[in-house]
Amino acid sequence: MRRNFIFFLAVIFWSVSVFSQTITSPNNNLSMHFQLVDSVPYYSLDYKGTPVIKASRLGLELEKLPSLMNGFEIKDETQTTKDETWNPVLGEVKTIRNHYNELGVELYQPSTQRTIRIRFRVFDDGLGFRYEFPEQPNLNYFVIKDEESEFALNGDHKAWWIPGDYDTEEYEYTISNLSEVPKLFDHSYDQNASQTIVPMALQTPLMLESKQGLFINIHEAALIDYAGMNLDLNPKTFVLKTHLTPDAQGMKGYIQTPMRSPWRTIVVSDRAEDILASKLILNLNEPTKYAITDWIKPVKYVGVWWEMIMGKSTWSYTNSNNIHLGVTDYSKLKPNGTHGANNQHVKDYIDFAAKNGFDAVLVEGWDEGWEDWFGHSKEYVFDFVTPYPDFDIKMLNDYAHSKGVKLIMHNETSSSAINYERHFDTAYKLMNHFGYDAVKTGYVGNIIPRGEHHYSQWMIEHYQRVVDQAAKHKVMVDSHESVHPTGLSRTYPNWIAAEAARGTEYDAFGGNNPNHTLVLPFTRLMGGPMDYTPGIFQTKLDYYFPGDKRFVKTTLVKQLALYVTMYSPLQMAADLIENYERFPDAFQFIKDVAVDWDDTKILKAYPGEYILEARKAKGKDEWFVGGITDEHARTMTIDFSFLDPSKKWIATIYEDGKDADYIKNPQSYHIYQKKITSKTKLNQRLAPSGGVAISIKLAE
Ligand code: NOJ
Ligand code: CA
Repeated sequence: MRRNFIFFLAVIFWSVSVFSQTITSPNNNLSMHFQLVDSVPYYSLDYKGTPVIKASRLGLELEKLPSLMNGFEIKDETQTTKDETWNPVLGEVKTIRNHYNELGVELYQPSTQRTIRIRFRVFDDGLGFRYEFPEQPNLNYFVIKDEESEFALNGDHKAWWIPGDYDTEEYEYTISNLSEVPKLFDHSYDQNASQTIVPMALQTPLMLESKQGLFINIHEAALIDYAGMNLDLNPKTFVLKTHLTPDAQGMKGYIQTPMRSPWRTIVVSDRAEDILASKLILNLNEPTKYAITDWIKPVKYVGVWWEMIMGKSTWSYTNSNNIHLGVTDYSKLKPNGTHGANNQHVKDYIDFAAKNGFDAVLVEGWDEGWEDWFGHSKEYVFDFVTPYPDFDIKMLNDYAHSKGVKLIMHNETSSSAINYERHFDTAYKLMNHFGYDAVKTGYVGNIIPRGEHHYSQWMIEHYQRVVDQAAKHKVMVDSHESVHPTGLSRTYPNWIAAEAARGTEYDAFGGNNPNHTLVLPFTRLMGGPMDYTPGIFQTKLDYYFPGDKRFVKTTLVKQLALYVTMYSPLQMAADLIENYERFPDAFQFIKDVAVDWDDTKILKAYPGEYILEARKAKGKDEWFVGGITDEHARTMTIDFSFLDPSKKWIATIYEDGKDADYIKNPQSYHIYQKKITSKTKLNQRLAPSGGVAISIKLAE
């Protein structure tokens, strides 16, 4: 009887499981299993024999057309291997190895005579897969209702998450098990603010840790011409499912074949450090499209910025909020006396940048329109070319260039992307005319075209149009409030950085938690560099405004360490000149630290708790170490074995003072020098929400 039953099961299995194929990572640690079960495609992923993703469905639902979910048969299957190296234009390392095994399956749907392809790439550090829609008579033009890719997790993992949203990533992270998300979800965002929350969905990059100690990161790579992704969570089964951002019509993508989706990425390791070291997302992007890239350069900058964010000066020139752009003669209006971007102040910043070796000065609030720039869904706020009367664009650029410094243009679009597209060519011509080589864009408020979202397909294409147009003018782009990066800086290296997460500005809007910058490298930064704008030395704002309770929840030294732990080839020293002049010895680290690297070693890291990294400056025998901790003081052993053993080194160590504490005594620090070799080990104490920053040079 029992034998018959087993035979019966075997027959069923045989009759439903039509096709199955396994590919492994080059080092065999990962294995990806693809199956067509009862004509439905599934994949699963194991790491060293442990399930990471259990059998998970793949496919898409289409508007007014039969779905691409089932009824498939295998038409073709291809397997390839690639092992190559490439050099990023700017990066954390000089050379990146792109080594994977690939499986491509062609799925034919006889009932509709349509074909799609699913391509899997298994690397030593994870899996990427995408859908490809070849050009064909029966699949020419279609509209996506939703992508239904699943990630069936193997348990109630710990997650570092922000709520699903169509319009902002500027959240604090919640750390909880997935099963606890429902009870915490409503507290994870400000319900009075105008975000577009997706109930019970999480944003990516999503960081997870299993009970067995597996670290898993889910995100997307090469997001082009397609809507940005959130992940619907089933908090009982722990199945995640793609949830694309809808457009104004509620549609999730207008596709014309041939076309391919972004890659869905799963980075996995039993060491948290490997997640930070992963280059999988960059590897899944195409090589750079630009034949010449010598105009793309790393940028360390200061700027007229923090003073407005914290309320010490204003972007606007006058008090009037009855301005009609292009009609109002600003020169006839009374200045408000608090305008930050005035000639003398900008000159001071240029002098300061030149004296201290910075490449550039960002100036916000230089152009007409800031008197009434958001909240009213106004289509036309800025023209991106008309300076306020007290900002002499020619004089200031000439002055900056005479001192070897560039100005960084600021184009706040007030989310009227349509208005920006009308003007950006003129704006970039203006930049070329005056010698700007970088622009900071911004998308504060609700998107126009109205009803579009920051991450809907139209906006994804908009960010791309901006980067393409800027490239034509040899302009680098730093986009704020744009979609989560997906490694596109490989292909379009002039997209030098983005904000797309909660940055230092929130330290003035209420504060970032001490663990915030310990989570970001495991989440937001997985997709690419962040313009976090660190370097605040005067962390308590009652220094300017007596009684003010706002403060940056770190020690001064932790602010220094962020230049190493928050990778970006565009880094700001965000504090005011006066504060750097008050602490010149600590400021020396910001002056010295590199922003483009030959090598990176992730020495020790655990999401939300501690990070210790060492990086070697591009083309130099210089290393920089950054270590940071959450609200808990801790001692970290720094092992300098990454140094060349044949050389002698001198380290300048910037450490928290013995009495340093991010609340009670954030500005207590100690700086000393020490001869070291590759054999040196240093037991380093970090204060509560403190850090350590070390610059290492060859000993004379
Ligand atoms: C938000 C940006 O993140 C910030 O850097 C900028 O100063 C303001 N928008 C104004 O554009
Ligand atoms: Ca922002």
